[in-house]
Amino acid sequence: MKVAVIGAAGGIGQALALLLKNQLPLGCELALYDIAPVTPGVAVDLSHIPTPVPVTGFAGDDLPLALEGADVVLISAGVARKPGMDRSDLFNVNAGIVKSLVEQVAVTCPNACLGIITNPVNTTVAIAAEVLKKAGVYNKNKLFGVTTLDVIRSETFVGELKNRNPLQVSVPVIGGHSGVTILPLLSQVQDIELTDDEVAVLTPRIQNAGTEVVAAKAGGGSATLSMGQAACRFALSLVRALQGENGMVECAYVEGDGRYARFFAQPILLGKEGVERIFDHGPLSSYEQNALESMLETLRNDITLGEEFAQK
Ligand SMILES: NC(=O)c1ccc[n+]([C@@H]2O[C@H](COP(=O)([O-])OP(=O)(O)OC[C@H]3O[C@@H](n4cnc5c(N)ncnc54)[C@H](O)[C@@H]3O)[C@@H](O)[C@H]2O)c1
Repeated sequence: MKVAVIGAAGGIGQALALLLKNQLPLGCELALYDIAPVTPGVAVDLSHIPTPVPVTGFAGDDLPLALEGADVVLISAGVARKPGMDRSDLFNVNAGIVKSLVEQVAVTCPNACLGIITNPVNTTVAIAAEVLKKAGVYNKNKLFGVTTLDVIRSETFVGELKNRNPLQVSVPVIGGHSGVTILPLLSQVQDIELTDDEVAVLTPRIQNAGTEVVAAKAGGGSATLSMGQAACRFALSLVRALQGENGMVECAYVEGDGRYARFFAQPILLGKEGVERIFDHGPLSSYEQNALESMLETLRNDITLGEEFAQK
């Protein structure tokens, strides 16, 4: 099983590559690509870590070599936020980057599962879908917006507030991946009751947690280490599912039945061919129902923006 990380010299890419080098199961290989010329060196550096996962690194014109034979492609290439920016401010640069990278994916590894990390995820996933569709290779079960960071933040913050081990807290997060479109279902946390006041504090904290990191890094970028961990969690679940392991469930932003929007994050059973089943989000509290209804216009507009961009 080959996993390719695109944008591998960046803050997320390097953290993700390190985690994958250490945690991918036996029989997997890792390929790194970034336009930055340091990338082969990142691979050499990682290759000195004693795990059975071979690593290769590519830069410049060698994207096809990194993608050749890939089963899973994770894209974190692009620019990150600076203080005062929201994710949609990244659209102008990142839309073009994602479009050209996915055009190459469509040619070199059209059957790979593709995880988009590059923001604005609500829009870049729509771009990827349209690019793949244009090339005649779109399989909606194999395209994912990686929203796992919203899940791990929710688990961390609930654990902190309720004095529980966050590893034993599980929070589904639905919707999209920006501001109000991030909807943690705090009414569904098992064995933990949250008061209305706690929900009213936690929900916006989870929605704005990325901005908390951007402000704290004071111009030095956005979440990279927690995002590396989040993407690694998602990628490992996906790899294990592709290898035939049962019961791998993660939340991700995928094309489903279109009930709320063409793309929507929700809990998904992963299988040998990508998305095996999308779970219904279950009963919502009235707070969550209101939040869901009020996010939809933003989410749909974000998606349309990506669809229209890809047509140009
Ligand atoms: N999905 C999420 O939850 C989430 C969370 C945090 C950040 N992000 C996003 O992830 C992206 C990367 O963030 P980062 O902190 O790693 O940024 P970074 O600037 O540290 O790294 C980005 C890397 O992309 C590379 N790159 C740029 N254009 C490229 C191209 N055409 N081909 C290959 N590589 C290219 C750059 O050389 C750089 O190494 C940003 O868009 C950021 O907003 C997503």
